[in-house]
Amino acid sequence: MSRGDTCITRTMKSYQKLTTPQPAGCQVEEEGAAPMPPARGRMAPCWVGSGLLVAAVLLSTITVWVLRQVSGGWLGPTPPPKCLLVPESHRFDCYPERQVVVTQELCESRGCCFIQSPLPAEGKQGVPWCFYPPDFPSYTLESLNQTALSMVGLLVRREKAYYPRDIEMLRLDVEFETDTRLHIKITDAANPRYEVPLDVPRAMKRAENPIYSLNFSWDPFGVLLRRTATGTVLLNTTVAPLIFADQFLQISTSLPSRFLYGLGEHRGSLLHSLDWNTLTLWARDVAPTESFNLYGAHPFYLLMEEGGDAHGVFLLNSNAMEVALQPAPGLTWRTIGGVLDFYVFLGPDPNMVIQQYQQVIGFPAMPPLWALGFHLCRWGYGSSNGTWQTVRAMRNYQIPQDAQWNDIDYMDGYRDFTFDSQKFASLPSLVEDLHKHGQRYVMILDPGISSTNPHGSYWPFDEGLRRGLFLNTTQGQPLIGKVWPGYTAFADFSNPDTHQWWLENLQHFHAHVPFDGLWIDMNEPSNFMDGSEDGCPPGELDSPPYTPAVLGDSLSSKTVCASAKQKASVHYNLHNLYGLMEAKATASALIQIRGKRPFIISRSTFPSQGRYSGHWLGDNRSQWKDMYYSIPGLLSFSLFGIPLVGADICGFSGSTSEELCTRWMQLGAFYPFARNHNTQNEKAQDPTVFSPAARTAMKDVLLTRYSLLPFLYTLFHHAHLQGDTVARPLFFEFPQDVATLGLDRQFLWGRSLLVTPVLEPGVDSVTGYVPQGTWYDFYTGSSVNSSGEMLKMSAPLEHLNLHIREGSILPTQKPGTTSEETRGNPLRLIVALSSSATAWGDLFWDDGESLDTFERGSYSYLVFNVTQNIFTSTVLHGSTEATNVTIGTLSIFGVQKLPSKVLLNGQEKPFSYLDNQVLTVSDLGISLSQGFSLQWL
Ligand code: GLC
Repeated sequence: MSRGDTCITRTMKSYQKLTTPQPAGCQVEEEGAAPMPPARGRMAPCWVGSGLLVAAVLLSTITVWVLRQVSGGWLGPTPPPKCLLVPESHRFDCYPERQVVVTQELCESRGCCFIQSPLPAEGKQGVPWCFYPPDFPSYTLESLNQTALSMVGLLVRREKAYYPRDIEMLRLDVEFETDTRLHIKITDAANPRYEVPLDVPRAMKRAENPIYSLNFSWDPFGVLLRRTATGTVLLNTTVAPLIFADQFLQISTSLPSRFLYGLGEHRGSLLHSLDWNTLTLWARDVAPTESFNLYGAHPFYLLMEEGGDAHGVFLLNSNAMEVALQPAPGLTWRTIGGVLDFYVFLGPDPNMVIQQYQQVIGFPAMPPLWALGFHLCRWGYGSSNGTWQTVRAMRNYQIPQDAQWNDIDYMDGYRDFTFDSQKFASLPSLVEDLHKHGQRYVMILDPGISSTNPHGSYWPFDEGLRRGLFLNTTQGQPLIGKVWPGYTAFADFSNPDTHQWWLENLQHFHAHVPFDGLWIDMNEPSNFMDGSEDGCPPGELDSPPYTPAVLGDSLSSKTVCASAKQKASVHYNLHNLYGLMEAKATASALIQIRGKRPFIISRSTFPSQGRYSGHWLGDNRSQWKDMYYSIPGLLSFSLFGIPLVGADICGFSGSTSEELCTRWMQLGAFYPFARNHNTQNEKAQDPTVFSPAARTAMKDVLLTRYSLLPFLYTLFHHAHLQGDTVARPLFFEFPQDVATLGLDRQFLWGRSLLVTPVLEPGVDSVTGYVPQGTWYDFYTGSSVNSSGEMLKMSAPLEHLNLHIREGSILPTQKPGTTSEETRGNPLRLIVALSSSATAWGDLFWDDGESLDTFERGSYSYLVFNVTQNIFTSTVLHGSTEATNVTIGTLSIFGVQKLPSKVLLNGQEKPFSYLDNQVLTVSDLGISLSQGFSLQWL
């Protein structure tokens, strides 16, 4: 483009058929959008007329001269001026291959810039030595047509990039799906490609008042997305070339801030580092370790913009991928298959971003109430009687417990759908006994099906083989790997017939052992061999042109071959979906068997998993730092739409200590999914085995959890209904407060209960952030006023700090030792008055386990309000379930002076008032199905 050229800029309405190529550097503007300024990096050359070019060359010559002086001489030949123009933070990696030490020759063979930078510290990544020059060839937007709902563009690449089967022509689809959601999809214009088989809702009409504006750059092609209200650029994909080869798809963008979250599953802080940090997404069985790809894949990030707005980006792609973060701030998506299918959610606040994300992937299932009770498990009870003993000990000490679990040791030879007829002979009686006590039974299932049994002796394998339900090798034979039972075939859950077979197996087993929920493990799928007993065949699925930075450097490391054949596609495409598909089959089977809400906990997960299961964070260790990591872990899964999440309380491997386990039980009592689980050959770590003091502390905190079940259950209702988070990072509630953006040692339940656990040994206090406002001690009702500061809180071993945010009302209940017992007890509503003496809260109530109670209208929903010294409870929706439960007590925190009287529905009522400004009215005896008011004068 020369200086005399003019850009053709049109509003969207006037795009009809823009087949005339635009001069380089022009941007097409979305209706009402501000003109796009020249972007950095990629866009620069387009704007450079002759005068600017001269200036740029001059500048870089000076830079070279200065650098030579500073460094005492340049090593190697002088890089071209265009390369020197790219600041370090903006260098987008042109040679991400890890197995290769990139040389100048290799780098330049790709047409990229080579500048060596100092080596980073061990184990860290540094500035890439080989990076794209500003004029690296990319795609050109050749045409853009308007349809009723979307815009359809054609992208053309004139020069090949460096990966095989570079796709020359791409189709661009842009849908303005809602005012806060944009959908951008780029795929092969000529041939269909694999797409994730996820039913996402389609927009029926075009957004009328989008809160964003979109601009296009024609050459090189790029999109620039802005938030209209603030002008913030959320995406600018012109910062590096778009590459779209059959097995290498890459797109980069600038980011508006460094506050980026999500992109799982990984272990680390909640807030990601953008200092050359590459996150790999490829489901993998490995004890959680920083910087490794772990059990699940969640290609979604949430980013906090300056000023407290938030947006999210979801790449609907299930192939092995990595996301490279760099300090520009910038981000590169690099995937090795599928299509580039992006959804952008504009919030504008973080809660709304997560809701909007779940509108696409689906809202989480409503768990049964008992799922929110305490779960106890270990690998190595060794027998059903041993398991039973623990259950009895828990009952003996009256420690709350809703579910007893068994790990693989219940099985006969670790084979699914069997139980050891010797050691677990009493298992059916144990389950019966649990049911009698209002408790539940959950056992483990693995997807590897034992394949070496005498024919006719193991129906699951024989029948699976007969029906052709296992993953096959490229030769069409069942792929054999090794898991707990020895050699195994792997169930292909992408085949609907497998779901039927899975159901039949579960039905047979359930007839003997009437389990209530299922724990689906090893479903990455995990394999003790790499690939299969025969390794993997040569070829571009198992050895792709580019392998993301997966642990083990190979896609088949500790899993099955990527080339394995599945009904829906090759494993290469479906690997990350394995846990999701198994959960789907399992949920459907549980519904058919029990006719009640299914309870499933899965190790491997993918977006939309929350519709079918919860998740636990895998094989952690009994260490203090693992306890800390559980918080960013569970908060990340809140972002991923899987609210039912927790970590193995007290640690899975290694031996716990009484102090660690006490602190962990306190934190774990506030995991949405609370389970203590332990590996084999370690000492027992259930609450009954500790000293009376520790045991009592554990019991007390579980009772506190049980007292909060009505509140927790209501939060899950909101998650199910509209995608609210349950365990929530502080910045979700205080997005304007930058001090909250990095907090991951504390969290909230909903918007109002602040949990500040102790995460280190040998202390009797904890320092935590208390956002601005009044907070009330959960136990005493005493208030703390914070200006938004770190506060030191007393935390002796028996105490977990819990604070209620002003303005909220928490429904609680007298706790029993099971959720079943608890749900019959009277409720106590805790009112935490705001500085203007108002408060709000709500309660969802149903039978706790029937299917679709909300959808069928079999529930009660109550709203509580306080204004002007009047508390009102309004029943917005009623059901018979609620008539048997009463509201017994109202505790009002922050009542500034002693009332002269209290009136319940106009009738005077006795009350108590304490110096710390807590008003309590007991013995209310009001049925949940009745509205009422209470006034203090
Ligand atoms: C896996 C699970 C762990 C379980 C073990 C035995 O390591 O992650 O929780 O105890 O397998 O089944």
